[in-house]
Amino acid sequence: MNDNKLLTDELKSKIVPMFESDNTGHDIYHIERTLNLANYIQKHVGGDKVVVVIGSLLHDVHRSIQNEQTGKFCEPKNSLDKVSNILDSIESVNLTKEQRAKILHCVEFHEGYTDEEKEKYSDIIEAKIIQDADKLDEIGAIGMGRHFVYGGKYKSKMWDPDCPITKRDLLDESVDDPSDIHYVIHKCYEIKNTLLNFQISKEVAQSREKFTIYFVNQFIEEWEKLNLIQEETLDKDLNKEVLWGPVNIAKAFRHGGIVCKPMYNDDIKCSNKDNEDISFEEANSTVAFLDSKAKFEVINDNKFAQEFLVQFYKEWYGIDYDSDRRLKQI
Ligand SMILES: [Fe+2]
Repeated sequence: MNDNKLLTDELKSKIVPMFESDNTGHDIYHIERTLNLANYIQKHVGGDKVVVVIGSLLHDVHRSIQNEQTGKFCEPKNSLDKVSNILDSIESVNLTKEQRAKILHCVEFHEGYTDEEKEKYSDIIEAKIIQDADKLDEIGAIGMGRHFVYGGKYKSKMWDPDCPITKRDLLDESVDDPSDIHYVIHKCYEIKNTLLNFQISKEVAQSREKFTIYFVNQFIEEWEKLNLIQEETLDKDLNKEVLWGPVNIAKAFRHGGIVCKPMYNDDIKCSNKDNEDISFEEANSTVAFLDSKAKFEVINDNKFAQEFLVQFYKEWYGIDYDSDRRLKQI
């Protein structure tokens, strides 16, 4: 077992309980995906591996403080005492003073820099890596899933056919996104084109952007075909739906947000039943439910749910994930 595996396991055992009650999309799985992406970027651009591992695993401690307390946003800088205490308790590595300072910096500035700070800290490569990894998890199939869950929970509009997506929406930060679909395409465009630090991160973003554009185009086409005129009414019985295209996939995630069902819980079996058409209530996550539905889409010659899941699993398990293996299980 290498040192980083020992370190990762040790730190995960310390932070898992802190994120158990998270319902903001910043759960332990987001932390793990951020770590995977950060390790991938670090391999290409360099930087201190130990700082990247610890900084990634602790970057959202401020979210756990927010969840423990009033739900009010806690600034990353206000989590530094808690992060320091965790650093003090690490046994698997001996951190140097410099590493410690860098980790605290990564946590404090993982959401980005102000212009003033940029001048001061622009040479901290590990912080830039964690910023990119954290942002990449906001886009693609997982980013859309996370946002639809949020949209269901906070009752935003899923799509507004009276507001076509324009280039101005993509470029103008001052314009509020009128729907979830506007948001996901806007966020993807913004992150890929303006917020990433490294070329390798932009390459990851490019494939996620391609899938997001595909999803949104199919969504709008399907919406028009189904002649859905206004905001969807969230059908309590999702199990009766027959077409598992983008509109119902978005609805399923939103419904998961309303009833607090996990987006995905990393259980490869996906449900308590194997190879059966499980109901939304029986599924242990929204993705487990979609996985079950995707098998039946083969009969209808509709591959969209499968394409969505392949992209989702690839993003969840890492860049090098063998999607063919997962495909065969669908
Ligand atoms: Fe994060």
